[in-house]
Amino acid sequence: MYTPDNGKIWLATGTERVYLNPAMANRHGLIAGATGTGKTVTLKVVAESFSEMGVPVFIADIKGDVSGMCVPGSENKHIRRSIDTMGIENFNYTSFPVRFFDVYGKLGHPVRTTISEMGPELLGRLLGLTDVQSGVLRIVFRIADDKGLLLLDLKDLRSMMQYVADNAAEFKISYGNVSPQSVGAIQRALLTLEDEGGDIFFGEPALEIADWFEWGDDGRGMMNILECAELFQHPLLYSTFLLWMLTELYELLPEAGDLDKPKMVFFFDEAHLLFNDAPKALLEKIEQVVRLIRSKGVSVWFITQNPMDIPETVLAQIGNRVQHALRAYTPNEQRAVRAAAKSFRVNPDFDTEAVLQELATGEALVSVLDEKGVPTVVQRAGILPPKSSMNAVEPAVIGTVCANSPLADKYGKAVDRESAYELLVAAAEEAQKAAEAAEKERQKEAERAAKEKEKAAKKKAASSSSRKRQSAVGKVASSAANTIGRELGKQIVRGLFGTLRR
Ligand SMILES: Nc1ncnc2c1ncn2[C@@H]1O[C@H](COP(=O)(O)OP(=O)(O)O)[C@@H](O)[C@H]1O
Ligand SMILES: [Mg+2]
Repeated sequence: MYTPDNGKIWLATGTERVYLNPAMANRHGLIAGATGTGKTVTLKVVAESFSEMGVPVFIADIKGDVSGMCVPGSENKHIRRSIDTMGIENFNYTSFPVRFFDVYGKLGHPVRTTISEMGPELLGRLLGLTDVQSGVLRIVFRIADDKGLLLLDLKDLRSMMQYVADNAAEFKISYGNVSPQSVGAIQRALLTLEDEGGDIFFGEPALEIADWFEWGDDGRGMMNILECAELFQHPLLYSTFLLWMLTELYELLPEAGDLDKPKMVFFFDEAHLLFNDAPKALLEKIEQVVRLIRSKGVSVWFITQNPMDIPETVLAQIGNRVQHALRAYTPNEQRAVRAAAKSFRVNPDFDTEAVLQELATGEALVSVLDEKGVPTVVQRAGILPPKSSMNAVEPAVIGTVCANSPLADKYGKAVDRESAYELLVAAAEEAQKAAEAAEKERQKEAERAAKEKEKAAKKKAASSSSRKRQSAVGKVASSAANTIGRELGKQIVRGLFGTLRR
């Protein structure tokens, strides 16, 4: 396997070579710049280097051009010039071990998760709920968790909402108020989400993030590529889904302390979408997960056009920066250029702000963290060329890669196992039957009984009916508890964001 220079990643060359320090990769990264300035290519070069060090990678592919990593690159004028001027020896065009995932199951293994796993926080965001409505959603999740009812898909959640609404009086004391208005609003939001195709990724088999930790036969880290062209049409679905993946990664990995290289590198393209109109509470949690995931050995790279679109609290945690060219025609753009320039340690050799606007494609202002965690003085440098193809591959190529992957069997077919919906429907039917039977019994008895005994007979029937109804619901809860007991093997614990903790 290829060993990078002195254990570091050669990323770019200006007046000198710029190396990325893998031990500092968990201090996260930023790749910014206007469209067409070289962000995706930079992402590929960073990803390729980590893969070569044996680190698996996750990449969200919005334009489809990341898919080319499964085939070798080919020479063009630009690359030839880079190879010559940067003094790259033995440059070899090569493909990388790749797995494709696709929420829609068209250009990759289908990616699904369950409502239970996604949890109320992220779902509330997806549904655009108010604080009060989010509170109600949390209550509904808590009741489902306590009763051991699995919420796999949207229909489970809808029937669970109905169940809680129907029994709101009973739940009020131990869980809090569930108003019909909030339930109505949430049900409507669920229908809207379904209409937008948001139900697509709820179901089973749910993605196990552990499957991302794979290596090619030669030990290079797997490129796990999520095809996002279609998902990206719904920016909120896209950003929430990626945030869910990040939190899953966080929950999955143990504390790692200081490592000489990360365990996983996560590239979050169009990252600004994560923060667009995000409520303050969510922003704080994102900030928290970005900070905490460091100690689990995950390197997160945010890719965005304008770094100002990323909140200050998150930017402050980013140690490694690759800033491609920014245009500055409007006052807003000028502000962005100034802010981007200010985020760098000044290099006395040039004016950061001016250079930022004249950078060529594939050229960038780069600053990384040194051994001591101090940002290096900003360098103007050309990013190395990628070894794999810069272009998108044909769908047929992706199809072949998927067919040859061991994950094809695991995720290929959706299953719909017994969950809250089925159990609640069964419970309702059983309760209905019990009530009907009791009613018949009552009528018969009433007919048979003498007039003076009628009152007593009525009372008896009423009490037996309520007992039966109770036992029907009790049965559901215990059978659901068995299901979840079998599946999870332990009590439900929710972590950050209310996602399931394993
Ligand atoms: N480091 C590089 N080496 C060679 N060519 C590059 C490099 N960076 C960018 N390019 C060229 O510029 C084009 C646009 O780059 P891209 O990364 O797709 O831009 P962005 O993602 O910012 O829109 C690429 O298709 C490629 O031809
Ligand atoms: Mg791009």
